[in-house]
Amino acid sequence: MTSGSVPERARVFSGIQPTGETHLGNYLGALRNWVSLQDGNDAVYCVVDLHALTIPQDPGVVATGTINMARMLLAVGVDPDRSILFVQSHVREHNELAWLMQTVVSFGELSRMTQFKDKSDRSQFISAGLFAYPALQAADILLYDTAVVPVGDDQRQHLELARDAAIRFNFRYGDTLVVPAHHITKAGARIMDLQHPENKMSKSAESIQGTIGILDSPKEIEKKIKRAVTDNDGEVRFDPAEKPGVSNLLSILGAATDTDPKALAHDYSQYGPLKKDTAEALISLIEPVQTRYNNLADEDVLETLDQGADKAREIAESVMERVRDAVGLVPQNAGG
Ligand code: TYM
Repeated sequence: MTSGSVPERARVFSGIQPTGETHLGNYLGALRNWVSLQDGNDAVYCVVDLHALTIPQDPGVVATGTINMARMLLAVGVDPDRSILFVQSHVREHNELAWLMQTVVSFGELSRMTQFKDKSDRSQFISAGLFAYPALQAADILLYDTAVVPVGDDQRQHLELARDAAIRFNFRYGDTLVVPAHHITKAGARIMDLQHPENKMSKSAESIQGTIGILDSPKEIEKKIKRAVTDNDGEVRFDPAEKPGVSNLLSILGAATDTDPKALAHDYSQYGPLKKDTAEALISLIEPVQTRYNNLADEDVLETLDQGADKAREIAESVMERVRDAVGLVPQNAGG
């Protein structure tokens, strides 16, 4: 998997789960790149509701979460005039290709996925779907002839599996699937928990004090940054191994202001001013997103998703035709 530059007019695909609150890690690690990659590329973005079901969920939470996540994506700047925005379960081909992906990835590969190990350690009921999750993710990506997948660093292993699945499929059945070549890593690819900076910021963190929600009020943001764990030596230095808390604040401020976190460290001699500037930068970054989020009506979001699914299906159907043909599935009207 390579990172960095994007080929000219590339197909871009990415997804986000609809459950839990959208947080700063999602925004800085992925969503901001989704927005910038709309320029000059063919971008397809998806609310992956089927992925959320790998862990038992309340149906109401899935339904409202899906609409609210689409609302959030529009609020951060996904533009339906330039990109396709849709819900995974609206395009049935995701399931169909996921099954075929399960036949080309191995039990051993799926067993090595660190996210599966983490999540299954924390769950009482470990569904087969949780185990096969990366095969569905591979299908999401490969169904759109994707070249570029903007994600945070935590998805690296899943992307490598998608790439291996495409290569193996092509080896078995002939050149059929596009092998995704690029993984975007940029500033903000790994935003850590404010209370436990050795862990990534996540929806499932034990304490909400460690996670900044995109819908948090300015007061909450200030409070959470003020209470962020640092250390006792008092030196502002970018050193994620030795100084994870301070480095995380520098990464956040750097990503929010498009500045190199190492260079930023030279501007500060104390933690207080670093925290104050970080909170201010976040508030001015997030406030316009909140305003747009609050002004979007459900009907408009649903209409956008409807149109998005139609456009996504067109691409997915043609790729699936190619895939069915390659694996030897006889078309229904083969007899004429
Ligand atoms: P999800 O819903 O957990 O997260 C959505 C995106 O946010 C990024 N992210 C982070 N980036 C930096 N720092 C963090 N602390 C942080 N936490 C989350 C994630 O890397 C992701 O880009 N399996 C995927 C969803 C998915 C998908 C796909 C992604 C399903 N199919 C196809 C790409 C392509 C997931 O659970 O992301």
